[in-house]
Amino acid sequence: MARPDFQTLPGTRDLLEPDSGRVRRLVDVFAEEADLAGFGQIVPPLFEDVGVFVRLGEASDIVAKELYAFTDKGGRDIALRPEFTASVCRSFVEKRPLTPWKTWYAGPNFRYDKPQRGRYRQFDQVGVEVIGTHDPEVDVELIALAWRFYQRLGLTDLTLLVNTLGDFAERPVYLDALRGYLEANTADLSEQARTTMAVNPLRVLDTKRPGDAEVAAGAPLLVDFLSDGAVDAWMQVQLGLDALEVPYEIAPRLVRGLDYYTRTTFEIISPGLDAAQNAVGGGGRYDGLVAALGGPPEPGVGFALGVDRTLLACDAAGAFPPTDRPVDVWVVATTAGTEALELVEELRRGGLRADRSYDRRSMKAQMKGADRSGAVVALIVGEDEAAAGTVSVRTLRGEGRQAPVERSRVVEHVSELVRSLES
Ligand code: HAM
Repeated sequence: MARPDFQTLPGTRDLLEPDSGRVRRLVDVFAEEADLAGFGQIVPPLFEDVGVFVRLGEASDIVAKELYAFTDKGGRDIALRPEFTASVCRSFVEKRPLTPWKTWYAGPNFRYDKPQRGRYRQFDQVGVEVIGTHDPEVDVELIALAWRFYQRLGLTDLTLLVNTLGDFAERPVYLDALRGYLEANTADLSEQARTTMAVNPLRVLDTKRPGDAEVAAGAPLLVDFLSDGAVDAWMQVQLGLDALEVPYEIAPRLVRGLDYYTRTTFEIISPGLDAAQNAVGGGGRYDGLVAALGGPPEPGVGFALGVDRTLLACDAAGAFPPTDRPVDVWVVATTAGTEALELVEELRRGGLRADRSYDRRSMKAQMKGADRSGAVVALIVGEDEAAAGTVSVRTLRGEGRQAPVERSRVVEHVSELVRSLES
């Protein structure tokens, strides 16, 4: 086959059935869980004033390197969203809904990242945010929601990592200690870690390079610098997870890729993914983000789960398989009139998934189409049936029986037949 003129761009993909149907089912399961927990859906715009995302922290890669930012025809500086949390906070500040405001979302995000398995430039997330409460029990409920969702998908081999990043008030003291330690050990750090250290020393902690990881392992821990309030909240999160029997590991060096986190942070990792991108989801508190976007000092907490990575993890675990959705009925008509057109329309209005062949093909070719479609029943209308006011109903599973049915009773008859053949 000749190479087509156009192909999808790097880091983007077409999702076709059955993969697209699998994504839709995944979002449905998530929507059900969010609904049970009292969340309403938000559908924010795909692009915003670039300033909304710059407030996420100019030191993070997501803002510094990966934003799809451009000037539109009206001269506005805008960007495609790299995540939902900033948009949700912007919406909160703009609309001021009653607190606590609980909202969930699903949709694509854009990051100019290096494409590889599990890392795309356009990728989907499902997630939730709660704005307006400090209660650590919300953190627990959210983690439990994510965990339950994965259990429902059949992903039972995941690991939940939790940590606390404390409050911004104690951060400078800790950062001084961390910087002092890293500077004392620069000789053992890679060039890349030294650059990271200058911009955002916290990120050196979750390095994956073996040499750097050895240095990171001896670094002072933030947990030793927490205020009494942050320690208390951290204990409550652990007690809550224990009470709900959500298994977790404490990961004192877990820092996330966005700079807005305070207190509880967490990540869920899958053994079925490559180590560099093994997080199927993550989140935490961001008690200063609403204020950074010009709003009141309302705290926030939430998480986002990567749909693409979650499905890769499902593939590796043999969970939540894609399912074909064959039609129920295939209409085969060899008449010169509009019989096929009318019949499929009636079947569809009667709630049956019905399809047909086009281009007035031969009976044999149309029956081949019926077999290929996976339909359980074929309805055949030739000149004889049309003259007699009947339709021949042929079952395509089992013995393959065929019998005439009155045209006026066909939808009712086929509905019953499909139900009995599928059960
Ligand atoms: P994040 O860790 O940047 O957090 O993304 C969450 C999840 O999205 C990741 O764990 C991963 O599964 C998926 N993901 C991220 N980047 C890519 C990519 N390039 N390709 C494929 N999947 C990707 C956030 O986005 C925060 N907004 C989460 C949050 C919500 N924190 C508080 N509220």
